[in-house]
Amino acid sequence: MTPAVASAFAALKHAAAAERDTHLRDMFAADAQRFPRLSAAWNDWLLDYSKQRIGAHAMERLCGLWQAADVPGWIARMREGSAINHSEGRAALHIALRHPPGKGPILCAGHDVMPAVHGELAKMQDFAAQIHGRHWRGATGEPITDVVNIGIGGSDLGPRMATQALAAFRHPELKVHYVANLDGADLATVLAGLQPRTTLFIIASKTFTTQETMQNAASARHWLVQALGEAAVSRHFVAVSTNLAEVARFGIDPENAFSFWDWVGGRYSVWSAIGLPLVLAVGFDHFRRFLAGAHAMDEHFFSAPAAENLPGLLALLEIWNTNFLGADNRALLPYSQSLALLPRYLQQLEMESNGKQVDRQGLPLDCTTAPVLWGEAGTNGQHAFYQLIHQGGRLVPCEFIACKHADFALPGHHEKLLANCFAQAEALMRGRTLAETAAELVAAGMSADEVARLAPYRSFPGNQPSTTLLLPRLDPFSLGALLALYEHKVFVQSIVWNINPFDQWGVEYGKKLASRLLPIIEGKAPADRLDSSTAGLIDACKR
Ligand code: F6P
Repeated sequence: MTPAVASAFAALKHAAAAERDTHLRDMFAADAQRFPRLSAAWNDWLLDYSKQRIGAHAMERLCGLWQAADVPGWIARMREGSAINHSEGRAALHIALRHPPGKGPILCAGHDVMPAVHGELAKMQDFAAQIHGRHWRGATGEPITDVVNIGIGGSDLGPRMATQALAAFRHPELKVHYVANLDGADLATVLAGLQPRTTLFIIASKTFTTQETMQNAASARHWLVQALGEAAVSRHFVAVSTNLAEVARFGIDPENAFSFWDWVGGRYSVWSAIGLPLVLAVGFDHFRRFLAGAHAMDEHFFSAPAAENLPGLLALLEIWNTNFLGADNRALLPYSQSLALLPRYLQQLEMESNGKQVDRQGLPLDCTTAPVLWGEAGTNGQHAFYQLIHQGGRLVPCEFIACKHADFALPGHHEKLLANCFAQAEALMRGRTLAETAAELVAAGMSADEVARLAPYRSFPGNQPSTTLLLPRLDPFSLGALLALYEHKVFVQSIVWNINPFDQWGVEYGKKLASRLLPIIEGKAPADRLDSSTAGLIDACKR
């Protein structure tokens, strides 16, 4: 870390030591103003972080990291298109993808990227109008009823998650499916319910070389060609990629290719043509609102001071939990079925970005970075893993997300959902002491012996930190803002930790080894120089 951050960290260590032993319930008892003091608002959003294990004084110091790490300087470098992804020599300009027309240029290597961005969006809009208007016809003249997006990682998770999140806004007739896994079970089960005549495939891959996507694309092509012949490919396949030469080699008409640019990282690409299946699922007007929400969050992030900056606060609080309280994980708990895939999406965004071992100078890091992110939609998680969070003895910072209004307003559901969300946060904070438990059991009529025997099992330590993010409702605008919030949160953390969040070299090695093992599994190469475990596994498969 930089010397300025190192000295801020040293001061924060003292603050953490002073506060470490104070229970959250005592922090609330000592300060009636804790909630207004430790919460922030943006438009009609509320971020309540008063249940984090931090006092107002330490919070002030924590916000000092913003200047110490020069977050404003890095924001400026991002906005001016500098190569902040230095290990790949690229800018990281996903903010340009939601920059509205008429708001000025965004430069990358001295060149305004906005005309190309808006040109590609217009092409997506036009394509969606053809599909929705039933003007785009398959090889037999029938309209498209089903779209299958084939992609993986950033070319899958964003549009897949957003399509589910915006289920309330879906096009009434067109069905959008997603296939990612190399396991044939993924593609085969999706294709089993579809007709080649009315199916359109989107092959989405930034590089157009990813093994999983290319294999699934080849199998999908075979399925289509067997039924309709080679000439049908141009009416049933479109592609999204930065590598248009490979798209053409695969046999997809360049007219049917949507492009994006190397300054868009895979996990930051849902705003680009990678969002095409989302456009088809919910319509271009909703996609435009999605972009507008992200842009509104960009503006907030660029201008708000640390203490009011929602992405900044989330970033700094996790740094507090990770680097000063020793947390190694965070549970993401959206009380929204529509956001059920958000934990998976954020796993890539956060862990692929900030799971790093060396700093921007290539030196080993002197602090821990991204915690393990996991989670599940509430209330389902309550009946699965919450037991461990309540009584498992581990530090598990929790992040609750709830909406004031339901996206599917069935009577009687939403109030109960909110009650559960807030009750869990309260229980995790407060806990229940042995004495409180004993008093309750006595009041319920238990004997003194029974109370003494059962009270330990029924007591809860509490003091489990949590944040609650309350949105007005889940709609395209708020979803766009929510995803941009997390992108910027990741960026702020990378700045403090002095790492590059935009590369992912760690994923490469496993891919290389898989290519080396494939010919051995296929029996085309000898199994020399393998460790005994890998050799044993391959041998067992062959037998
Ligand atoms: O998992 C590694 C990765 O490179 C991701 O960063 C990316 O989103 C994914 O693979 C898919 O890559 P592509 O879009 O090039 O197929």
